[in-house]
Amino acid sequence: MRTVICRREQVFQGPLLLVNRAHPLRDRTPAQLVAADCRYPEVLLDRRAAELLTACIQRVGGVREIVLVSGYRSQAEQQAIYDDTLAAEGEAFTSAYVALPGCSEHQSGLAVDLGRAAEEIDFIRPDFPDDGVCGAFRRMAAQYGFVQRYRREKENLTGIAAEPWHFRYVGVPHSLLMEANDLCMEEYAAFLRQGRQRCALPGGQTAEVFYVPSTGEEMALTLPDGCCQISGDNAGGFIVTLWGCQP
Ligand code: DAL
Ligand code: ZN
Repeated sequence: MRTVICRREQVFQGPLLLVNRAHPLRDRTPAQLVAADCRYPEVLLDRRAAELLTACIQRVGGVREIVLVSGYRSQAEQQAIYDDTLAAEGEAFTSAYVALPGCSEHQSGLAVDLGRAAEEIDFIRPDFPDDGVCGAFRRMAAQYGFVQRYRREKENLTGIAAEPWHFRYVGVPHSLLMEANDLCMEEYAAFLRQGRQRCALPGGQTAEVFYVPSTGEEMALTLPDGCCQISGDNAGGFIVTLWGCQP
């Protein structure tokens, strides 16, 4: 066993942050950003998200048909998108489809908008249908750590209209647990607070996930030896993932 110290500020860091109107990004320094595809050098993503996005697109044979429309956005970029959309489309459309500056997952480098290749692609609402390679990507995404973040059935929880084009990287096993239990990000931490989860991984290993509320400026966690990840939830605690557990 070993002891890991979690500091309060780490609640606001990590790949499992809940980002929405009620939970703005506090730490706006994204992890290391890279271009996922040299054909779209302006679309930057967190390095791990970029690697897995590329792998998933290749797996479904979507390299020619799936276009990377938008990735990381700075605060100034999100503000400009918000202001331009408000001026062009009005308040109702903008609050349905554009997050308030400071409250966009794109500012974390963990979200990507995808479109089907076409002569003209709508930047705010790209077409990403449910058939062909786009549908195949959607069905494969959780295996590569991505979830479709804004679904019609969860609009009352996310506060954002259905966005079939917006995918959020959370990593495996979280994407698998969210999909299997029909959860959006707004529901995930509460679900984990009900009890420790075990998840079979594609390679045959098992992962364990549990929630730890933050209780002070510094908190000591005793964890088994082995590979682990501790991510803040951007609300009140940490989501701990242990890999290589006995099935
Ligand atoms: N379109 C999503 C909600 C964003 O602006 O982050
Ligand atoms: Zn998006």
